[in-house]
Amino acid sequence: MKGRFTGIDLSDVYTDELTTEIETYRRFVSIFVNQIFTWHFIKTGLIRDKSYLELINPDFHPSPTAFHFTRKMIEYFLDKGTLIVADNGFLTMVGLIEDEDPDDEKLNSFLDQNPGKRNFYGILKNIRDVADQVLFKGEDALLTLANDNFRQAMKLWEDLMLTAKVKQPCHQLILRALCKKVAMGHPITVFEGGAGIGSILRDGLNDPDFLPVLDKIEKYYFTDISLSLIKMGREALRDKLPAPIFDRFVFKTADLDNLSMNDSDFTRESSVDMIILEHVLYDVTDLDKTLGLFNRILKPGGFLVFTMAFRTEPKNFFLFEYLQSTFQSYNKARLEPGYRENIGYLTLEEWENSLKRADFESFEVYPQQKNQVHWPYGGIIATPSK
Ligand SMILES: C[S@@+](CC[C@H](N)C(=O)[O-])C[C@H]1O[C@@H](n2cnc3c(N)ncnc32)[C@H](O)[C@@H]1O
Repeated sequence: MKGRFTGIDLSDVYTDELTTEIETYRRFVSIFVNQIFTWHFIKTGLIRDKSYLELINPDFHPSPTAFHFTRKMIEYFLDKGTLIVADNGFLTMVGLIEDEDPDDEKLNSFLDQNPGKRNFYGILKNIRDVADQVLFKGEDALLTLANDNFRQAMKLWEDLMLTAKVKQPCHQLILRALCKKVAMGHPITVFEGGAGIGSILRDGLNDPDFLPVLDKIEKYYFTDISLSLIKMGREALRDKLPAPIFDRFVFKTADLDNLSMNDSDFTRESSVDMIILEHVLYDVTDLDKTLGLFNRILKPGGFLVFTMAFRTEPKNFFLFEYLQSTFQSYNKARLEPGYRENIGYLTLEEWENSLKRADFESFEVYPQQKNQVHWPYGGIIATPSK
């Protein structure tokens, strides 16, 4: 599968091995989602006492995060057919929602044989353990973990960003797009929003051939809304990069929801060759405004490269939203029929409509739509029509 205008090929990334990773991920998450539903909705008697409509009423929930997390979890079971809405308007179980024991023998022997997966499994389990605070107190899962133990929560987040193999297509798409842009000849300016702990560049630097690519970058604006995450990214990159390259990095806080033209060096008209947004663009409140601004700050022929998971039917997809759905930042988008009908991840169609409206002309989509159930993780490269 080669991109039309960049020629980027990810067929070595979308492989049977990735399918196995994704299936393992699905299995892990489905265990936790079953448990959360069983413990918080069935064993507490909530689905007996409250009708379906009451449970999916935003007013019933302490926060938008609690509401969306509940709604999406119920949609998932309805779509799978393990729940139905009965004639009396209450949810009824059709199939068994298995409350599988995560410490069961089969799973443990799998984890023993695949020690690399234990950490990732542990992270998903940590989120399950704070589901109570998310669902009944309306809190954010990561902030809850951070309030309990800040250092441990930050470490957990860093490990998650670095070790989630299912996101390899996202990382590789960005790294390869960077190589293509640099190969066009002149030194480039890059703006990365939501750069966090810098997992993309840190992943890239595992390959010695990547350093010469970074050397062609004139300026790299490494930004995120969180100063704590930027500091982690900056320290890791300081350790890995030769000083002359590190000195071309500008580390700065920037909120993608509050960017405006000319308020910083990277928001000037036609000033940036490449904008990178790894798993963050779907978080913004006003997608049209943000895409419009990106269109203006990109140079002609510049690349907007962003990654995500592509939304498909709830039965296939909710498991991939499990983590994000427990974060407040994921639940604040302004919805607009035809462009943004879902909180959180978008469908390919919503992305295409939104990009066209913001005057982006060519897009490359990875993976192709027909593979997005099988391999939900990927991204889009778009160029402005100027
Ligand atoms: C899923 S993470 C992606 C992380 C990143 N690729 C990395 O390597 O750490 C999303 C990142 O976006 C940041 N973020 C969320 N909302 C944001 C916003 N409105 N503006 C800027 N950054 C934001 C978060 O702090 C987080 O670091």
